[in-house]
Amino acid sequence: MRVGILTAGGDCPGLNAVIRAASRRLLSHGHEPVGLRRGYRGLAERDHLVLDQRGVSGILQLGGTILSTSSYNPFREPQGLEKVRAAQAVDPLDAVIAIGGEHTMMITRRLSEELGLPVIGVPKTIDNDVTGTDYTFGFDTAVQVATDAIDRLHTTAQSHDRVMVLEVMGRNTGWLAVFAGIAGGADAILIPELELTVEEISAGIMSRHERGKDFSIVVVAEGAELSFADGERRQVRASEETDSYGYPRLGGIGAALATELERRTGYETRVTTLGHLQRGGTPTATDRLLATRYGVHAADLVMAGETGRMVALHGTEMTSIPLEQVTGIKTIDLRYLELAKTFFG
Ligand code: F6P
Repeated sequence: MRVGILTAGGDCPGLNAVIRAASRRLLSHGHEPVGLRRGYRGLAERDHLVLDQRGVSGILQLGGTILSTSSYNPFREPQGLEKVRAAQAVDPLDAVIAIGGEHTMMITRRLSEELGLPVIGVPKTIDNDVTGTDYTFGFDTAVQVATDAIDRLHTTAQSHDRVMVLEVMGRNTGWLAVFAGIAGGADAILIPELELTVEEISAGIMSRHERGKDFSIVVVAEGAELSFADGERRQVRASEETDSYGYPRLGGIGAALATELERRTGYETRVTTLGHLQRGGTPTATDRLLATRYGVHAADLVMAGETGRMVALHGTEMTSIPLEQVTGIKTIDLRYLELAKTFFG
């Protein structure tokens, strides 16, 4: 079999580990993995990369993706579908393993339904918001980066009696903020899934200070809204533009929140925005292991002819679900926020 492998959407640590694992599994069974460069563009434009033993050697620990990535959508690009059909006619692939987020899974499902292309999806994202799987690879690395940042902020916050606001990514979910917040011992966490007013956060900080704690760490998810006791709500965005998938470009709530908290509490407040540091660099051991399991499972599904599915982690088991079940985003299990609240104030 000739099996295309692509990475689409935003990169995340562990993509190369999946590429390596799926390729090695296919190669060991006598099949030919083919790298498709820049997501679905590589399929449409036959932009291929050799994924032989040598091609996937030395990449397990590398961040980013050796295949490059893009948000190319054959259903939206002019002649996109025709190009995919033509590519398949000239240089057919027997299956495609698409590593991506929610949007990629949607495109992958449509290609399977409308072109009859045998496909397997592998969920990736630092946001951990893909439905149908418990954890995506990349998430653990991002949590670790954010936790390290909180640890570093603690020492400088304590030295200056300051409030430190840390803005983390996560798009419209609070997985990253809550996991890093618990691991780093945050004093307040603001996420999109649950409203917490500026006044409530300020009161928590002030009661902490009254108990003799002269510094506080506040973690805020980029997609959270700034809300006030009088009912006013504000979503802060990096710009009015949307990204190539039509999502708003988030960012900036950290600075806005810091201004509001300083004004209300009177405590000196600083803000740190982690941005793409959370996505770059080497994956943690946990992510390498998870990505390897995802990749091998994807190759096994292809070889078994069980396509039209997304590989999924359920508990500790690697399994798969039909792609049509991958809809909407997976918001955080609020029990984690309850756990975090035990340590607030
Ligand atoms: O989905 C991953 C993610 O890093 C989000 O957390 C963030 O909102 C977004 O991508 C940033 O996208 P871009 O790299 O296009 O700025």
